[in-house]
Amino acid sequence: MTASLEVRRLAYAYPDGTQALFGVDFEIARGERVALLGPNGAGKTTLVMHLNGILTPGHGTVTVAGLPVGKDSLKEIRRRVGLVFQDPDDQLFMPTVREDVAFGPANLGIRGEELRRRVEEALDRVGMLDVVDRPPHHLSFGQRRRVAVATVLAMEPEILVLDEPSSNLDPASRRELAEILRGLDVTVLMVTHDLPYAMELCERALILSGGVIAADGPTREILADAELLAAHRLELPYGFALPRAEHSS
Ligand SMILES: Nc1ncnc2c1ncn2[C@@H]1O[C@H](COP(=O)(O)OP(=O)(O)O)[C@@H](O)[C@H]1O
Ligand SMILES: [Mg+2]
Repeated sequence: MTASLEVRRLAYAYPDGTQALFGVDFEIARGERVALLGPNGAGKTTLVMHLNGILTPGHGTVTVAGLPVGKDSLKEIRRRVGLVFQDPDDQLFMPTVREDVAFGPANLGIRGEELRRRVEEALDRVGMLDVVDRPPHHLSFGQRRRVAVATVLAMEPEILVLDEPSSNLDPASRRELAEILRGLDVTVLMVTHDLPYAMELCERALILSGGVIAADGPTREILADAELLAAHRLELPYGFALPRAEHSS
């Protein structure tokens, strides 16, 4: 089966010469939920910006469900890769929630009943259907983040890519978003510093550090490796206990 996302030998230097990625290799199978962990400056945002062609690789390739990211494929790639920015206010700019969620699909030429179905289904999946006619700026931060997720779900993406989805959420909103994300039947790549969130939502985790993949494995095993975490400046919250392993060896 074709992977949802395939990243091969991806290297990138910014115009000022800062080398941010040094040959990143991984793939994500359809339906997987993967956490992307790593210290500040590791290259996480740089990597994410390659997934939908905001940045163009110096070397290497990114392929989304068999389609290579490139100049000629950008429109389809941006439909397939649903990027949810860290700040929902970078994603919501229309007078109503409905118009914000309709914006992407309408750009693809979808109209009428199909557009309405897309919008309402996407909002329903994040529990925000009841605010469809309200202005986004009247919603709470947590609600705006859920609407931001709906704007990309309405594109029926191959993969949902979230940058720090739990940041700035109060505990109840954080838990509600976790329940929503866990219930989605879509491939997910989630950048996070919130290790318990990674544990809760993602069966697999990658550590990106110094522009390379330093670890790739079951989230539980990665979080149980204190030396590995310390080497990459990752810390579990005080008192956090990992769930017990399903298979003890
Ligand atoms: N626009 C830029 N110009 C030059 N260097 C940059 C730019 N953006 C990020 N960098 C550098 O690239 C490296 C990776 O940054 P980034 O991808 O933002 O890491 P992360 O998201 O993991 O914190 C860092 O050394 C950072 O300083
Ligand atoms: Mg970043």
